[in-house]
Amino acid sequence: MKHTDLVALIEAGVGERGGSWADLGAGEGAFTLALADLLGPEAHIVAVDRDAGALRALDGRFETRVADFTRPLDLHDLDGVVMANSLHFVRDKRPVLDAVRRMLRPGGRLIVVEYGTDRGNQWVPHPFTYARWETMAAQAGFRNTRLLSTIPSRWLGSMYSAVSLSP
Ligand SMILES: C[S@@+](CC[C@H](N)C(=O)[O-])C[C@H]1O[C@@H](n2cnc3c(N)ncnc32)[C@H](O)[C@@H]1O
Repeated sequence: MKHTDLVALIEAGVGERGGSWADLGAGEGAFTLALADLLGPEAHIVAVDRDAGALRALDGRFETRVADFTRPLDLHDLDGVVMANSLHFVRDKRPVLDAVRRMLRPGGRLIVVEYGTDRGNQWVPHPFTYARWETMAAQAGFRNTRLLSTIPSRWLGSMYSAVSLSP
């Protein structure tokens, strides 16, 4: 996907410029870069991934942290978190969602980007439709979940973005 398409996918969920954000499962940082465009130079973004090699693409431009986001991350009072095609690697998402909720300030934003299917495969093991996401996010204490955008995808039919607020 082109950078401008990635920006468009999350733009309506980002809100104010600046602030402190994390990209969990950032990989080589496609959405870290999209976020950086939307938040501007005042923002602080930490890119987290368990794959040190992938994060190297962001060295010198962002704070990077080699870590497993299913373990405690010591991130607090964030204005926002992006999880783009990373939550589908986790079967039991509730503990991760609880941890993400706790790392956000009240009213902080969680943006997810996911494939629009509940049926996984060996590369995308545990994806979830937007309908399921609404339920999962509410059960984990997030509120005001809304769909931002849906686009066709060569893999698994479609991809969507959604935003939820921390209570
Ligand atoms: C499909 S890639 C998506 C990368 C990027 N967010 C994007 O959309 O271009 C998924 C990334 O999540 C990372 N990842 C998966 N599970 C993780 C975990 N438990 N902790 C940290 N990173 C994880 C993988 O290493 C990989 O870089």
